[in-house]
Amino acid sequence: MFKVPFFADREKPVAERCRTDAATKMRLRYAPYYQVIEHADGLRITVDGKPMIMMSSNEYLGLTNHPEVRAATKRAVDEWGTSPCGSRLANGSRAYHIELEEELAAFLGKEACQVLVAGYMACLASVSSLANRKDVVVVDKSIHASLWDGIRLSGAETERFTHNDMGSLRATLERLDPKQPKIVVVDGVYSMEGHIAPLPELVALCEEFQAFLVVDDCHAFGVMGRQGRGTPDHFGLTKQTDLICGSFSKSLASTGGYIAADKATIEYLRSSSQQIIFSAAITPPSAAAALASLRVMQKEPEHQQRLWDNTRHLQGILDTMGLDYWGSPTPAIPIVIGDKAKLYYIWKSLQDSGFFTVMSIAPGVPAGKDMIRMAVSSLHTTEMLDRFGDALKIAMKKADFQPA
Ligand SMILES: Cc1ncc(COP(=O)(O)O)c(C=O)c1O
Repeated sequence: MFKVPFFADREKPVAERCRTDAATKMRLRYAPYYQVIEHADGLRITVDGKPMIMMSSNEYLGLTNHPEVRAATKRAVDEWGTSPCGSRLANGSRAYHIELEEELAAFLGKEACQVLVAGYMACLASVSSLANRKDVVVVDKSIHASLWDGIRLSGAETERFTHNDMGSLRATLERLDPKQPKIVVVDGVYSMEGHIAPLPELVALCEEFQAFLVVDDCHAFGVMGRQGRGTPDHFGLTKQTDLICGSFSKSLASTGGYIAADKATIEYLRSSSQQIIFSAAITPPSAAAALASLRVMQKEPEHQQRLWDNTRHLQGILDTMGLDYWGSPTPAIPIVIGDKAKLYYIWKSLQDSGFFTVMSIAPGVPAGKDMIRMAVSSLHTTEMLDRFGDALKIAMKKADFQPA
């Protein structure tokens, strides 16, 4: 019988802590994470010699094998080699950094942009470098780990409000000293829930209480707004959003991250952010893949269109089955199971049916929300999604799971 062990006692000596950790035990015995993909052709992958369909990659626009993206990436290596081998402060910016930053800033409707080696670094830097000990950072409880880590590094006071609850945000802001500098931090689209931040209300509250607004738009870039410009563009509130951070690893077929804001904010970050000053710059192939994807997104709207058609199709399948997907209106779709043992059997059965998914369990998600976290891609076909629905029915039966 599958049982989730307790998480490690953090007070134990390090080696013992590792041996008793729940995630380690699970990996040693059941190995549901870090599976080795031996081959990938778009969403068609091979695991342990078995062909499978990828259902959890954040490849929203399906551009990792786009001919123009592949060609640009190869050209970049031919022209620039494989790495800048150092930070931009130490080694200088390269022309490809500037080209990417200028095009991203223009696309997002912001004055300036800074690119970093990961979305995680960009989001962490957005908070840790701007906030200081005398500030208060007011956050939605469901923000991404990178933002939490940024807050911890900043040493600022932290206040949480209930996820997407603007009454809770108002009450929090009202309690604070009006003179204390405030930063409100949210995700544009929440990675686990798929929920969209209510930006009009957020902007209004930030204006009323004079708070600086940071939006992590990793899951909205390429997905929401005109040609995929993200959540601020979706609501027509780009100007009012002080800082947008995001990732290249979802819609931009690369790895890396960006921070977009006005010129003064970006220049301040360049001279104050440890993550920018003390870490190597993004590599030529990563920058080239992101830039080529950005250009493809703008001239081929069919990828975004197909993404949304697929999202609606999958939501229809889940609705018919009565499954709870936490009301996600976006391609980041959680299938909430709640019971960890049943979740494991459902995950395993999906795997046996040839569908690669990932389990997200508490404390990574709120208690009782243990889920299969899925991401729809423009590369999914209707037939793949229908077959996934059939596999889910089999999985639910095997796990004896009935939706509430
Ligand atoms: C909301 C959110 N922020 C930040 C990140 C970090 O982005 P990256 O994977 O590019 O480091 C992620 C990625 O999972 C994310 O979902």
